[in-house]
Amino acid sequence: MDTECMTVTRFVLEEKKRFFPGASGDLTILLNALLTAIKACASAVRKAGIAKLYGLAGSSNTTGDEQKKLDVLANELFINMLTSSYTVHVMASEENENYIEVETAKQGNYVVCFDPLDGSSNIDCLVTIGSIFGVWKKPLDSKEPISCILQSGEKLRCAGYAVYGSACMLVLATKNGVNGFTYDPSIGEFILTSPSITIPRMNEKRGQKIYSINEGYAKYWDKAVTEYVRSKKFPEGKEKPWANRYVGSMVADVHRTLCYGGVFMYPGTKEAKNGKIRLLYESIPMSYIVEMAGGQSSNGHCSVLKVQPKEIHQRSPIFLGYKEEIEKIEKLYEKYP
Ligand code: AHG
Ligand code: MN
Ligand code: MN
Ligand code: MN
Repeated sequence: MDTECMTVTRFVLEEKKRFFPGASGDLTILLNALLTAIKACASAVRKAGIAKLYGLAGSSNTTGDEQKKLDVLANELFINMLTSSYTVHVMASEENENYIEVETAKQGNYVVCFDPLDGSSNIDCLVTIGSIFGVWKKPLDSKEPISCILQSGEKLRCAGYAVYGSACMLVLATKNGVNGFTYDPSIGEFILTSPSITIPRMNEKRGQKIYSINEGYAKYWDKAVTEYVRSKKFPEGKEKPWANRYVGSMVADVHRTLCYGGVFMYPGTKEAKNGKIRLLYESIPMSYIVEMAGGQSSNGHCSVLKVQPKEIHQRSPIFLGYKEEIEKIEKLYEKYP
């Protein structure tokens, strides 16, 4: 038993003392509320088969996804734990059409946008899924809740995701770095196991050549993506072809990219010009995490963190991973505007 184990709470309190000495401590309380929701989600995912939590809830969300029972349960957990933390002013969720304004008596100074359960098409076949969140401060000058919600990634205070895979891990990014905490059910705490995560460099031994995209949509790709993917599958000269890995849960595909390197892509297509991934609670948090780990994000033209969200559920093409590869993709979009 490690009697000095570094829990998320200890880690965030130490970061607060070092970087935000005058802070109220509310962010620590908010993160602990998120951890409670994540632990409960992890437990529900693990026992879904026994507790008859697989399958559809019989409803759809604003972006047209058929909601799974676990989507709905995860959503209620996130909303209830955040509301009762007295630290949140307003929140937005994939599963709610409109923003959720916390009742005045319980309002705090933070804004949280989240995907309570990501990759839910994979739930019933036991493939890795996750949760994604971004945390902003409520802007001092904003009156309207929607203007609190629609903030760019450049204003993020922190962002993270939980991976419900062979282990449960929280990956938390602040401007001071990215850290991974593995859940230890025996003490109910997330323990720092991957300090200062950095995406491998392509020329590093640990940097793998992996491209991650749903090849099933190749017929609908634009010229830039078609040419880029082709260059990975049929490289010139002596370079070996890249491996293709695609889980279909963004959290799983991005976590692998953070650990092993490579490029994750969900581009726009002829059928859906902005692709499928939602900007506010999927692309922005994931882009922040990858960029804080030394990688790069793009919508094909600029860092996703520079994109000003206009609607809660707007979609955005997303490319994440090796800096040099993202630059190649942006050059191809200049070549084929
Ligand atoms: P969600 O389950 O939160 O709706 O997100 C699903 C997303 C994302 O996790 C994944 O990258 C993408 O859907 C997979 O889409 P395709 O099945 O079209 O490849
Ligand atoms: Mn969904
Ligand atoms: Mn998702
Ligand atoms: Mn989801």
